[in-house]
Amino acid sequence: MTVDVSTARHPFLDGKPKRMLIDGKWLEAASGKTFETINPSTGEVLARVAEGDSEDIDRAVEAARRAFNGPWSKVKPFERQNLLLKLADLVDKHFEELASLDTLDMGAPISRTKGSRLRAVGMLRYYAGQATAIHGETIENSLPGDYVSYTLKEPVGVVGAIIPWNGPLTATIWKIGPALATGCTVVLKPAEEAPLTPLRLAELCLEAGVPPGVVNVVTGYGETAGAALSSHMDVDKVAFTGSHITGQKIIQASAGNLKRVSLELGGKSPDVVFADADLDAAVPGASMAVFANSGQICSAGTRLFVERRIYEEFTSRVADFSKTLRVGNSSNPDTQIGPLVSPEQLERVTGYLAIGRQEGARPLSGGARLTDGDMANGYFVPPTVFADVRDDMRIAQEEIFGPVISAIPFDDIEEVIARANATTFGLGSGLWTRDVTKAHKLAKGIRAGSVWINCYQAMDPAVPFGGYKMSGYGRESGKQHVEEYLNVKAVWIKTG
Ligand code: NAI
Ligand code: MG
Repeated sequence: MTVDVSTARHPFLDGKPKRMLIDGKWLEAASGKTFETINPSTGEVLARVAEGDSEDIDRAVEAARRAFNGPWSKVKPFERQNLLLKLADLVDKHFEELASLDTLDMGAPISRTKGSRLRAVGMLRYYAGQATAIHGETIENSLPGDYVSYTLKEPVGVVGAIIPWNGPLTATIWKIGPALATGCTVVLKPAEEAPLTPLRLAELCLEAGVPPGVVNVVTGYGETAGAALSSHMDVDKVAFTGSHITGQKIIQASAGNLKRVSLELGGKSPDVVFADADLDAAVPGASMAVFANSGQICSAGTRLFVERRIYEEFTSRVADFSKTLRVGNSSNPDTQIGPLVSPEQLERVTGYLAIGRQEGARPLSGGARLTDGDMANGYFVPPTVFADVRDDMRIAQEEIFGPVISAIPFDDIEEVIARANATTFGLGSGLWTRDVTKAHKLAKGIRAGSVWINCYQAMDPAVPFGGYKMSGYGRESGKQHVEEYLNVKAVWIKTG
């Protein structure tokens, strides 16, 4: 199906306020309140959305608990697998529509969102596979007498999922997929900046046959709905993706019932370019490691360490490349760099552009908001390269979450490992070299959850992703992800 991505024609944008999904029913917020979600390319209002708060969270958690204790607990792995496969087929069938909804609501270029079909559908099929691969172990013990000991894997229960706005479709699948695979139930709180795709995906869950109460979506703000979900006494686990500041609040809120928490937080990831690298590949590679999605990616390689003898040449090539990228309305198929998600992000990122200059960094490209022509009402910042960045500058320490590279020279390998690790974060990292010894040394030496060598941001549903240090804990994708949604129970039988 080809969908015209202009606001007026998108089938989901029918002018009616969007309701939340609780217990298989589409409901207004208990308070009756709604909020607006906007298209960051144009500033236009796309839809009004139910503004859920703690009362709605209570209703959704009750529904999720009833489903968990009730019929859902009897559903066999084969049936959960089938639901996930049906959902995968529906996501595939409606993919263009889902991609354009992400583009309209959060501003990722349509070329980017359309390119994520394999990932979105593949994730669901991967979790479908995992649904029938869950098993405990029989463990030999050394007790005197005859005892058999084995383990059962059981779903943790009701999961509160809180997601950010930077990739709503895949973020939703990343939370719902493992829950359905393991037999958990979910209350999902989308980001207030981009709630539409999660709501559309929830419709597809119902169409796939997911029973009432198994997947619930409560739209609303973080301080109200999100806080209520993370402190709820009947939620067994919170799976959170977002900023480390909110992650810290989630941990505090989880203390009441000691619920399990997994956190996928931000980063200030190093990307290291050695003089021996294939520079023709490293220039676009290291550039898009930051500029993709306008820098709104948690693992973006924003600290670009370049070996000193190629520093001037390489940084000017990156700046030249950045000037070739087409910035504009995300619905335009030619656009490579869309807007930032919101006026708040625009203010934050342009604030860092000013800070970079004040700190003495040298801008080689970009550096100021774009307002030409039809960009006037959107939140556009062009790809920006700062040279002469020092490790102690704020633009080298803090997550900007915009299309901003901080380029830093280095001299040798031990030094660059130490400097790459001199951050509170540890999510992604990259390096570009033809020397396998250097590659392996850095792969071992960097304290981060992912290391990309001669590439950046490669992702697969089977390969775990997550953080060290203040980038969080727990892993998404891979077998570890499924384990995050399971409890281990030890069973003992005296047979003698
Ligand atoms: P945020 O972490 O506050 O928001 C993420 C989610 O958490 C949203 O659904 C929000 O409603 C919810 N939330 C907010 N406060 C909450 C609370 N007290 N309790 C429970 N849930 C809460 O991030 P925000 O404000 O959208 O962006 C601010 C900065 O955070 C960005 O500039 C960026 O640096 C970073 N960020 C990092 C992300 C990542 O993937 N690592 C994603 C989004 C933001
Ligand atoms: Mg929006």
